[in-house]
Amino acid sequence: MRSHYCGQVIVGLLDKEIQLVGWVHRRRDHGGVIFLDLRDREGIVQVVFAPNHPDVFKLAETVRSEYVVQVKGRVRRRPEGTVNPHLATGEIEVDGQQLVILNRADALPFPLDEYHEVSEETRLHYRYLDLRRPEMLQRMKLRAAVSRYFRRYLDEHGFIDVETPFLTRATPEGARDYLVPARTRPGSFYALPQSPQQFKQLLMMAGLDRYYQIVRCFRDEDLRADRQPEFTQLDIETSFLDEQEIQDIMEAMIRGLFAEVLQVQLPQPFPRMTYAEALRRFGSDKPDLRISLELVDVAELVQNIEFKIFADVAKDPHGRVAVLRVPGGATLSRKEIDDYTQYISNFGARGLAYIKVNSEGLQGLQSPILKFFPESVVQALLELTQAQVGDILFFGADKADIVNASLGALRLKLGHDRGLVAAAWKVLWVVDFPMFEKGEGRLSACHHPFTAPKVNSIDELLQDPIHVLSRAYDMVLNGTEVGGGSIRISSPELQMAVFKLLNISEEAAYEKFGHLLTALKLGCPPHGGIAFGLDRLVMLMTGATSIRDVIAFPKTQTASCPLMDAPAPVEPEQLIELGIRIRQQEKQEKHDGRP
Ligand code: AMO
Ligand code: AMP
Repeated sequence: MRSHYCGQVIVGLLDKEIQLVGWVHRRRDHGGVIFLDLRDREGIVQVVFAPNHPDVFKLAETVRSEYVVQVKGRVRRRPEGTVNPHLATGEIEVDGQQLVILNRADALPFPLDEYHEVSEETRLHYRYLDLRRPEMLQRMKLRAAVSRYFRRYLDEHGFIDVETPFLTRATPEGARDYLVPARTRPGSFYALPQSPQQFKQLLMMAGLDRYYQIVRCFRDEDLRADRQPEFTQLDIETSFLDEQEIQDIMEAMIRGLFAEVLQVQLPQPFPRMTYAEALRRFGSDKPDLRISLELVDVAELVQNIEFKIFADVAKDPHGRVAVLRVPGGATLSRKEIDDYTQYISNFGARGLAYIKVNSEGLQGLQSPILKFFPESVVQALLELTQAQVGDILFFGADKADIVNASLGALRLKLGHDRGLVAAAWKVLWVVDFPMFEKGEGRLSACHHPFTAPKVNSIDELLQDPIHVLSRAYDMVLNGTEVGGGSIRISSPELQMAVFKLLNISEEAAYEKFGHLLTALKLGCPPHGGIAFGLDRLVMLMTGATSIRDVIAFPKTQTASCPLMDAPAPVEPEQLIELGIRIRQQEKQEKHDGRP
């Protein structure tokens, strides 16, 4: 039906007869001439209909926005003064000689170029219209280019693409599972995979040596701008490589990706930072290094001051007293400081003490807590934090994780609010994660329970598990965790010891992970891998603010799909077949007085 895409009609085609199909982006009538901006996935071209073909002209008059049409015409130069430098096709136009209306369109529920006014719910309800916007199409194309690049790189490096099941059993990655009832075994459920973690390890035991898959993962967790209940991982596993070798292959892949798709050079090698250093300096295990603000520990200085809140925390081994110095921050108003105090209370902070450095000398300081500080301590504080005239020092004193979370978040917020985010790509590896974290009195895995601890023996692991580091690593880009992986446990005894520390009894471990424990005993190579969040990477690469903008059909914050209206109730017969009864419905029926 066509000879060229609209966006590809360029000067080289001058005087050529061409045939186009596409959507009418806009129709304008000017002095007896009709202009159609015709749009397809490659761009927009201007078609002109003049009254010297009366039938065609008449038909062109009936055309409305978003009609789907076919046009035959001749390419010509635009008249002087009408060249559009913003369009790739801006130097030419098509002299329309034939027109076929392939399909009409009602007025759209929202105009494609004023979508900002439109709620996201509406955009998602009519996602196929939203995707017509060139910006969205561009993102879809970039996403495809990223997948294409990954496949090529991994194919060239000896990785084998293997598909793993969706209908499976739970693999813990720290979220709730999506369950699928099994008709063939009423009362039993499949779990959709939170990741193919166990399968990819089993593939190493099968001898595949290097595996990859671009694969959907399912996690029923609280949603945020960078999280979706179903999302795509570039999932990778290798045998006989240590963490350094895996990281080398992976960062070369990411460097190549940025060079090829964005023409951006990332550093070689990527910087590495330990988890402990990341928390100490940035309050986060995924530090955004585009922002240069850093936390400074001051517990030693305030241990004996009168301000009890600080002094007590400073003496508490689980406490942290830290300062965030903000250059130029002395101009912050009372109201702004109150707003920041309110903001960090969301992270559990009980207050946000500050010292403003308005001018030289002690009398130039302004602070609600200064009265509690001996002069010598103030001097030492100013020196330690390298405070300059015009700065503000923000204080956090609490359990270390609260200070890290709150001052870490404040650092990001201030960075954005005050234009302190460098226009750069800042990538790093975060390494030496702890093996376990403690929540509600018991240990849970920081990465997942198959991650190898950095120990030489099981005894060493058992002595002081909370302080044991793991062989896990994350790749962080501009403050977003884009990938995470680890070297895995390859000994059944060590795996069982880790399960036990995680409060999983031997019996439960065999019940849940018997297949893996058995496989570990039947010839398991040392192995490890990583998974990248494809949606997150593409979000960063396209500059989108939400992961939803780089997924063709995403879910809302409440995990629903306004387009398909999913999730939705099902027919009672389907439930009966599955052996499922809905309690809510039962109550409702009783309430309605029906049986
Ligand atoms: P992890 O749980 O760290 O590791 O996930 C790997 C990467 O997937 C992305 N990601 C998400 N993206 C969008 N929405 C979500 N809900 C979401 N959750 C995670 C992140 C993250 O870095 N099996 C291990 C990998 C391994 O050990 O090899 C795993 O899944 O970018
Ligand atoms: P208060 O004596 O409670 O009025 O607190 C004096 C100042 O210290 C106020 O600016 C509070 O915001 C701040 N503050 C209180 N508790 C903390 C804390 N745990 N960490 C940091 N600042 C705090």
